Amino acid sequence: MKKLTGNINVGVFISGRGSNLKELIKYSKKNNTNWKIKLVISNKKEAKGLAYAKKNKITNYAIERKKPQFEKRAFDYLKKNKINLLCLAGFMRILSKEFIRNCKFKIINIHPSLLPKYKGLNTHERAIKAGDKYAGSTVHYVTAKLDSGKKILQTKVKILKKDKPNSLAKRVLKAEHLIYPKAVDVVCNKIV
Ligand code: GAR
Repeated sequence: MKKLTGNINVGVFISGRGSNLKELIKYSKKNNTNWKIKLVISNKKEAKGLAYAKKNKITNYAIERKKPQFEKRAFDYLKKNKINLLCLAGFMRILSKEFIRNCKFKIINIHPSLLPKYKGLNTHERAIKAGDKYAGSTVHYVTAKLDSGKKILQTKVKILKKDKPNSLAKRVLKAEHLIYPKAVDVVCNKIV
């Protein structure tokens, strides 16, 4: 794994809304960070997040292909754009072991739960059902094991009695918007 130094070219994979992508773009511009979003790839061409990339003149692609073809093409774009950090932001596809191994740079992900609790889908519903006091979100390194890599930052959000999965998801998303850019700062400044 290469050390991150100098100006860091960040690639982002999305599948949909892209609100975390939007916050990453905003934060890096506002704070003149040592990392910049240089490439956005979506596995869905209707992903709203692609519009933010376009608006900000960031190279972007939609690759609507089966996993092996998606990964091959995405890998070529990552190389061509000299990406040295990949952020998954609402990317709803599990990357293959081979893809992860071939990427000689770090890959990080934001997941809407207090990992190691509730890996996978429907995290808010599961937290409410279990009667948990807190939900939250975790930014972590991506490894071949789903939602299991080392934690970078985590944020807690109180679960209210009246919460439904949707209302909780909205508050957790707000918290995600604060921690994801900070987690990228952490990774790019080699604190973790
Ligand atoms: C976020 O809540 C993110 O944590 C979650 O999808 C949402 C994407 O929102 N990711 C996962 O569930 C990954 N397993 P966004 O497209 O508005 O950034």
